[in-house]
Amino acid sequence: MSGPIQGPLLSYETFTAFYLEASFFGILLFGRSRVPPWFYLFSTAMVALGTTLSAFWIMANNSWMQVPVGYAIENGNFVPNDWLKIIFSPVLWVRFPHMLLASYITGAFCVAATGAWYALRGAFSAEARIMLRMGLYLAAVLLPIQIFFGHLTGDYVHDYQPVKFAAIEGRWHDEQPAGEVLLAIPDSASETNKYAISVPVLGSLIGSMSLHSKEVGLTDFPRANRPPVVIPFFAFRVMVGCGLVMLLLAWVGTYLSRKGSIEQSRLLLWLTFLSFPLPFIATLTGWFTAEVGRQPWTVYGLLRTADAVTPFLTARTVLISLVVYCAVYTFIFAFGIFYIYRLLRAGPAGRLVVQPAEATPRRPTSIVDEAPVTSAGDVPTAVHPVIRAQ
Ligand code: HEM
Repeated sequence: MSGPIQGPLLSYETFTAFYLEASFFGILLFGRSRVPPWFYLFSTAMVALGTTLSAFWIMANNSWMQVPVGYAIENGNFVPNDWLKIIFSPVLWVRFPHMLLASYITGAFCVAATGAWYALRGAFSAEARIMLRMGLYLAAVLLPIQIFFGHLTGDYVHDYQPVKFAAIEGRWHDEQPAGEVLLAIPDSASETNKYAISVPVLGSLIGSMSLHSKEVGLTDFPRANRPPVVIPFFAFRVMVGCGLVMLLLAWVGTYLSRKGSIEQSRLLLWLTFLSFPLPFIATLTGWFTAEVGRQPWTVYGLLRTADAVTPFLTARTVLISLVVYCAVYTFIFAFGIFYIYRLLRAGPAGRLVVQPAEATPRRPTSIVDEAPVTSAGDVPTAVHPVIRAQ
């Protein structure tokens, strides 16, 4: 039914993004010693461009499902009548940056966590130092911007999807001024929250930037049009919680590194190392909030998920394809994680090392503390004295 709109959007993704990613990703993973450095750098830029384009088309597609615009309905099908409106929907301009920032923060934390891991092991000290600082500085700058875009994303939900907003807030009844439920256990049967911890008025402030606004509750909507409350309610809090923990970590880490004492703080190194799942969790719970919160609609307000199911699909075929998907992705993920772990364990190619004469083996931080750093090129671990010492 929505194929005439969603089909082209997905094929634009294939044409613009997949080819770029697929062509250059292999070079990124396996081609470092096979292509000149400039071409390797170019390949990394192409993969980054490919994934950005991919995110753009996915967000354009998904934003149309959240807030459908630029369409007409003919013979029960959605047909596009304004592609510019569809592609450049106003919602896209808050959701696309929120998604991109989520990816950059994920990258920043992975780099910082790898640096912390090296520092804890006393390996690759020069790189550990750079990775820790680069990752934490970047995260320290990006996280406040992400929280700002998170707020703007919440504004769009408030204005265009009030029932999803009420579910996220755990607000069952209209309130004026509205409180903000920080934590609770929402109970759909009794349409109340158990063990709620709330802050008065904050709900109106967050929803409408006012101290007096009326904010709508879930009971304003028929039960059949409400999302399941528990998942968006908790998923949203996990996402925001991860964001706040990462902000704290990035700011404390940046402060310590400005003081020059980050490598001495083993607690912070451990916390940074252990924090690498946080941005992944935030990203996933962000998607749970957006997608479960959109239920029971596939195209919000127009096409119910129950009606969007392909009529000739049986439960058996769906189950088989789901099992195959899970099996293939489990294999790819397991292999990917193993491969990335081995890459990280082996350490950077073309690592930064000091001239052997100036290095003080057995004291790993001496590399960055005392001696000038030079690029050693692709020095095999087995033959370079400083690397051997590490
Ligand atoms: C801390 C403040 C944050 C706020 C107020 C916030 C707000 C929101 C809201 C309201 C949604 C649902 C949007 C929808 O239904 O369409 C959402 C989705 C999402 N969030 Fe957050 N968020 C925050 C932090 C984060 C962080 C730290 C990350 C990841 C590092 C993140 C990643 C995502 C992703 C990937 C989505 C799904 C895509 C989208 O709908 O934009 N968020 N966020």
